[in-house]
Amino acid sequence: MVWRAEAAYNDLPALPPTQDIETKAVLKATVEARAALAALDQAARRITNPTVLINSIPLLEAQASSEIENIVTTADDLFKFAQDESAASNPATKETLNYRKALFAGVDLIRARPLSVTTATEVCTIVKGRQMDVRRQPGTYIGNPSTHAAIYTPPVGEKVIRDKLGEWERFIHAPAGLDPLVAMAAAHYQFEAIHPFEDGNGRTGRILNVLMLMNAGLIGEPILYLSRYIIQNKDEYYQLLLAVTRDGAWEEWVLFILEGIRQTALSTVEKIDQIQELQDETLGRIRELTSGGANADLLAVLFEQPYCRIANVVERCRVSRPTATNWLNGLVAGEVLQDVRAGRERIFINVKFLDLLLRPESAPPVEPTLF
Ligand SMILES: Nc1ncnc2c1ncn2[C@@H]1O[C@H](COP(=O)(O)OP(=O)(O)OP(=O)(O)O)[C@@H](O)[C@H]1O
Ligand SMILES: [Mg+2]
Repeated sequence: MVWRAEAAYNDLPALPPTQDIETKAVLKATVEARAALAALDQAARRITNPTVLINSIPLLEAQASSEIENIVTTADDLFKFAQDESAASNPATKETLNYRKALFAGVDLIRARPLSVTTATEVCTIVKGRQMDVRRQPGTYIGNPSTHAAIYTPPVGEKVIRDKLGEWERFIHAPAGLDPLVAMAAAHYQFEAIHPFEDGNGRTGRILNVLMLMNAGLIGEPILYLSRYIIQNKDEYYQLLLAVTRDGAWEEWVLFILEGIRQTALSTVEKIDQIQELQDETLGRIRELTSGGANADLLAVLFEQPYCRIANVVERCRVSRPTATNWLNGLVAGEVLQDVRAGRERIFINVKFLDLLLRPESAPPVEPTLF
């Protein structure tokens, strides 16, 4: 059967691909990506207070992943409203915070029971903020945004979709001896090609990527921030997905994802190292600028969220309001924090930390190819 863009692809073959996708180039890239991931996992275990990363990296991932869907919000707004979503007035900010919520829900789900179609459905439901289920109606397709011409039409028919999802789920748990990273790349293509929901398939699929890596024990927390790479290479991402369907171009697709994992992991390690350095430096400044504030709890308040309030310090450090206010005022005087008013409240911004989070990562050096 010849594949056609406008015809529902009910013949989408089950995984694994019939061709050998672990070519020499893929195996080499796998080794490099796994080394980078191991470095990331270690950096995350080394840092003072891992909550700092778990609060911030998934927000950056949420921002990048939502931007792929043209939901654009500033990271600054995200951090500002991270603790109180209901205060966010911008719908894009709310939707992006939903992505983070969905990622965390997915993590809780896979910690309780194996990754499944149910996990995907629950994740998509949270991403979209309404109950999502497998498509029952035809009409969903990937089209050219300006001409609306079909680029890819996913399978149609609830039973067909459910069967294909069942195969996808079986592959995830028994990936035919493939390396977990190669299996993740294959499963991501497959999920997008099945395109089980009316919307949110891209974001759900990108969350599932992180969950698969956690499942394989390659990262302990959801801090791989792959969507940044995908959005920077969005055209290629779309073209390569299509090329798997049209030409069976698996090798290029898998290499693209492996390189993404490698680059992202290394640039995240760099960010983690910078965060650690800034925490150390800030602790020294706290010692100079406050009397009695140099403790792990105050440091945690300043780094678990780049925005904090007097009440956060009172609660976390179990000190009186005047003491908390004194500490924060001292840090403002020493220019460690910036003090802004939000209505009747004062908000203290850890400016250096916020800058660090928002700063784009430098691209890690490209490895020379030796084959
Ligand atoms: N040719 C293709 N074949 C299979 N999947 C594709 C193809 N082109 C794009 N996709 C996937 O479809 C996703 C878009 O689908 P959908 O609109 O349901 O998801 P979304 O989460 O709302 O959007 P986005 O991924 O843009 O954030 C893309 O992100 C990509 O993963
Ligand atoms: Mg969409």
